[in-house]
Amino acid sequence: MDLAAHLSARIGSIFAGLDLPAELGRVARAQKPEFGHYQCNGAMAGAKASSTNPRELATRIAARLAGDPDLARVEVAGPGFLNLTLSDEALAQQAARLADDPRAGAGQSASPLTVVVDYGGPNVAKPMHVGHLRSAIIGESLKRMFRFAGHTVHGDAHFGDWGFQMGLLIVAVGEEQPDLIHLDPDFTGPYPSESPITLGDLERLYPLASGRVKAKDQALIDAARKATAELQGGRAGYVALWRHFQAVSRVALERDYGVLGVQFDLWNGESDADPFIAPMVADLEARGLLADDAGARVIFVHDRIVPKKDGSEGPDIPPLLVVSSEGSAMYGTTDLATIVQRKQTLAPDLSLYVVDQRQADHFEQVFRAADKAGYMPRGSLEHIGFGTMNGKDGKPFKTRDGGVLKLSDLIAMVQEQAQAKLAETGMADSLPPEERDLVASQVGMAALKFADLQNFRGTSYQFDLDRFLSFEGKTGPYLLYAAVRIASILRKAADQEIEPGDIAVAEQAERDLILTLDGFDSALAGAIDKRAPHLMAEHVYAVASAFSAFYTQCPILASNGPVRASRLALAGLTLKQLHLGFDLLGLQAPQRM
Ligand code: ARG
Repeated sequence: MDLAAHLSARIGSIFAGLDLPAELGRVARAQKPEFGHYQCNGAMAGAKASSTNPRELATRIAARLAGDPDLARVEVAGPGFLNLTLSDEALAQQAARLADDPRAGAGQSASPLTVVVDYGGPNVAKPMHVGHLRSAIIGESLKRMFRFAGHTVHGDAHFGDWGFQMGLLIVAVGEEQPDLIHLDPDFTGPYPSESPITLGDLERLYPLASGRVKAKDQALIDAARKATAELQGGRAGYVALWRHFQAVSRVALERDYGVLGVQFDLWNGESDADPFIAPMVADLEARGLLADDAGARVIFVHDRIVPKKDGSEGPDIPPLLVVSSEGSAMYGTTDLATIVQRKQTLAPDLSLYVVDQRQADHFEQVFRAADKAGYMPRGSLEHIGFGTMNGKDGKPFKTRDGGVLKLSDLIAMVQEQAQAKLAETGMADSLPPEERDLVASQVGMAALKFADLQNFRGTSYQFDLDRFLSFEGKTGPYLLYAAVRIASILRKAADQEIEPGDIAVAEQAERDLILTLDGFDSALAGAIDKRAPHLMAEHVYAVASAFSAFYTQCPILASNGPVRASRLALAGLTLKQLHLGFDLLGLQAPQRM
């Protein structure tokens, strides 16, 4: 239990003893140091409820707290605020508890859930855009935090490997290699195991074909639609060719995600939901939930009929397209079928879709459809949207030549600049080349990820690699460096056979550090509750800053006896918590640099 919870319970029971709600005892960190460590404002509401004077009520509560060994000072201020200052003993005891706890104070959920985190969402052959990068970074952190809090979590890449793009690629490959055995409708297999296409082929062909679709090349569009329907219908040659698309794309994606430190538990694709589509459509038909819309089958998902701009009336959101007029499954169809699939295979209590805010309407349609069909209640499906990472022009980040971001290029660029940054600062100079490369990669990825995670996910931010890579300020490299510095102090202490000892508190910077470390549990709970990794990012940064102030004001190795042993123990606790926090954000700290 953290100090805030402990105090809230203590004061809550005093309120309860006065026949007032225990929640009034809730304390929060004080806004200013002169107000003490914590504040309780419950006397104001309590006085209103019991028609007494708030200052009087606060004074009565303060009187009951008098003599509490955990509190050095209790003051009534203003109209009835309670300002609470913890005793040094209470702070030292709490620090000792955190130091003994392998979780450094982070609690676990009392009611663990089964949670699906649908994130990443890369597509076959299509280059990833910044939305995919942010989804990977934010989703990975959410996955780790839910898991750390004791939930059973399945992180699923939900690979975009089905639908129109696949038919389009088949046609594009066919134009280039018309004699390909996979295209011969009379051939019955077996098909060669070697791939007739490389990732390079796909990356070259896809943008060209998709450009022609955008330019309304009707012949191509028709051919691609037909190929899509045939692929989904199970045409053997198409299926065999498509498996190669999947395989070559996935190899490259796994490599890039590996460097980013993103680990999916499941690499299910949209295609894996395919076996669930026909029975689902039959079920929806049988229950009369589908309607005709110009030859297509749709499910109405509106809550209300609303007036429209042109004066007519219509649904508040358009229906979800389930089967296209060509008989193909659409993006929404696979999402709905995936809900059915996950229900049968994973039985999640909660599914989080970590996807670009621009897909909000899509998810609203899918979630409403799932609810209407009785597959999953609306509240168990959540779209965790986010803003974009923008370039200097304020538009979603593009490469210098205006192209779409390729994750592998971005990673290479970040790593290269991280190397340059290390060289410029002389850091990691003495390390062997291999370790140096690893450090550069860790610094680069921390820069990229922390720059993302420190903002509330809904906020868009500007890509500015120079700033991200700075060792000063609120950055990933600053955090890693802070941890490396502590590790080096601990190593030096070990070399000199100096042991950590009992924690005692005497300096303001020690108090501040302990109070900050004690916020770990509530940062975790808040970040999970709000699905907001930035709350954990803020906590980790606050810990690094508090340690830095502590280190400036409270020499560790240069002090002596019990003071040195106590400060060393605080440093050890700080490093332990930083490492846990880094892991929750997906950052990796070097041993040294
Ligand atoms: N592949 C999709 C895209 O690139 C993202 C998938 C998101 N997840 C989902 N269940 N729809 O836009």
